[in-house]
Amino acid sequence: MGHLNTLENAYLLAEDGIITRFGKDADCSIDRADAVIDCTGRIVLPAFADSHTHLVFAAWRESEFVDRIKGLTYEQIAERGGGILNSAARLNAASEDFLFEQAYVRLLEVMQMGTGAIEIKSGYGLTPESEIKMLRVIRRLKELNLIPIKANFLGAHAMPAAYKMNRPEYLRLLTDEMLPRIGEEGLADYIDVFCDKGFYTVEETDRILTAGARYGLKPKIHANELDYSGGIQVGVKHKAVSVDHLEYTGPEEIAVLASSDTIATILPSTAFFLGLPYAPARKMMENNLCVALASDYNPGSSPSGNMSFILSLACIKLKMLPAEGINALTINGAAAIELGHHTGSITPSKSANLLITKPVSSIDYLPYTFGASWIDKVILGGKIM
Ligand code: NIG
Ligand code: FE
Repeated sequence: MGHLNTLENAYLLAEDGIITRFGKDADCSIDRADAVIDCTGRIVLPAFADSHTHLVFAAWRESEFVDRIKGLTYEQIAERGGGILNSAARLNAASEDFLFEQAYVRLLEVMQMGTGAIEIKSGYGLTPESEIKMLRVIRRLKELNLIPIKANFLGAHAMPAAYKMNRPEYLRLLTDEMLPRIGEEGLADYIDVFCDKGFYTVEETDRILTAGARYGLKPKIHANELDYSGGIQVGVKHKAVSVDHLEYTGPEEIAVLASSDTIATILPSTAFFLGLPYAPARKMMENNLCVALASDYNPGSSPSGNMSFILSLACIKLKMLPAEGINALTINGAAAIELGHHTGSITPSKSANLLITKPVSSIDYLPYTFGASWIDKVILGGKIM
């Protein structure tokens, strides 16, 4: 992860949205092009792949932000019916068109900030109708063909209040009513569970992931954000594409991940925003785990999809080197949504998903100027944004 192949004084050719050639400027034999961008003094990078977001939601939750400033914890807010259940109440009342319009604006916003592929979860519905409404919104976003989008069904995000005393009944609803409809309509690529203290247990997660597999849904789950929840182990048991969050990851969890193909996805802006401990990224990399970074863009725990800021957090808080952070945000993020063949690196035959920086002195300068916008141009599928 510490290695970035770089080429100085280089050219790159994109045709019909695909990278077709690159090399040393001195070896460039192209004599014409429809458009030429002079990148003197700049760096050209692959666009980001954001493998974990909750981009579809009905309303922001800034009042909870203020409650936390005053001293309440994320868990206390959730126990009072705030948090995910608050988002679910708002989403239930919103129309599919309204949700689509809101999400479309957010999608364009993150594309402008350099995201060239994205995963989007359901999970603010928590009823069959509303979960399907969310997944249909994601499908409509996919159909715009702006960037590749993967849909993740997160019916097990929180326990709806009405089922607090009857958890098995909500699980039945999820496995026997939601999943068959989602499977039939082909609405999801993955299945997710918030396997953590106060949310879903390992046993419940096991059951839900087993049910998802019947519909061909691979797991990408929320694990170990709030405690050593066993989420990493149950995810690996089910051959999860990724386990995400991982603030509470010890030697046992690292050993389990090291003997698997599951990607360890860290979401440092959530730890930043909620004041949680940061995931042990260095320990993970020392043990050769494949580490990806994502934004977790959502109204409760990470109200930002700015991947440049994630890169700064990765370096400042996770002690990742700039090259490690860039790999985690690009090629490893793409792998975490099984799009590594299509995007995430500057490789002939991959999509021309590129970032062109402002004139900068080095790669290291990018995470160093946190909060600054060092991206000058975003090119997605060969189109300048
Ligand atoms: O990834 N951890 C669970 N779910 C989201 C938070 C969702 C919310 O608070 O609305 C997350 O942090
Ligand atoms: Fe999340």
